[in-house]
Amino acid sequence: MSTCSRIAAQMVSPGKGILAADESIGTMSARLENAGVTPTEQSRRDYRELLVTAPGLSEGVSGIIFCDETLNQVFSDGRPFAQGVRELGMLPGIKVDAGAKPCPGLPGETITEGLDGLAERLTRYAKIGAAFAKWRAVYTITDAGPSWGAITSNANTLARYAAACQEAGLVPIVEPEVLTAGTHSIEQCADVTASVHAAVRQQLSLLNVDLSGIVLKPNMVTEGAGHREQATPQQVAGATLGVLRAWPNELAGVAFLSGGQSPERATANLEALQQYPTPWPLTFSFGRALVSPALAAWRGEEHLVAQGQAALTKHVAANAAAVRLRTELQSA
Ligand code: 13P
Repeated sequence: MSTCSRIAAQMVSPGKGILAADESIGTMSARLENAGVTPTEQSRRDYRELLVTAPGLSEGVSGIIFCDETLNQVFSDGRPFAQGVRELGMLPGIKVDAGAKPCPGLPGETITEGLDGLAERLTRYAKIGAAFAKWRAVYTITDAGPSWGAITSNANTLARYAAACQEAGLVPIVEPEVLTAGTHSIEQCADVTASVHAAVRQQLSLLNVDLSGIVLKPNMVTEGAGHREQATPQQVAGATLGVLRAWPNELAGVAFLSGGQSPERATANLEALQQYPTPWPLTFSFGRALVSPALAAWRGEEHLVAQGQAALTKHVAANAAAVRLRTELQSA
């Protein structure tokens, strides 16, 4: 078993998911400001330390994704984040893309940038203790899109990133996200997600990426945020599995993003997904569905740290219980 396969298996081990705490400086600052916290390097650090040191977090979390700023910061006791996280029994990861930028030639569509100098950055991140990396490509459903150009260009960059990670000994989290923005139906989301995944599989294969050493981080297949009717967890699970079935057995695992779903809906959908037998584990790699309640409870107040941590661990426990269902169903 290669190093990447071993780490990937650990990331999706039974009953555990991955915490996404890798908002860029801009996004994190806006979220802090919304919650009434002055956004500074220090408040972003304080918030991430609150999340990571939540008592018992490692019972439901195998790894945590950070952005570059956090991975270069230290806990209040002076330990670097990567070291502190490992000592708490979890794996540290790093978001290495530079964000979705307007795609030349494709008005209104994006390409995720960040390939320049990637190999050197990955080597540095591995040296400071990162075990895995993340790259997010985004696709918007419109009357005319996403175009085949956006689908294939982003698939190619995801594959180039993934191959570079495996050469550096880091597990790539491969995140093709079909956004919920729009009024589209769940069927349209299924069609687009299936095309996106087919392109990603093809490009990963062309660049000899070992699927047993990656974690796929897809959107769940849902209706658009502006669609008139919300699909049930059973409908979401059925549509999502319909798309995922095309992935080969050797894929290490699938860890879903939450994509702006409420924490309750994301957990209910994750639970419904466990009813389906699959060759790979299906777990969570939620950002907002886990951290928003923690930020709302903390509000930057020193005396509310424990409440913020309790809000996080409550949602982690609910999602970990959902994914544990699989083990229970399989052994029944
Ligand atoms: P959400 O769960 O908030 O969609 O975030 C997951 C993530 O990592 C986005 O890149």
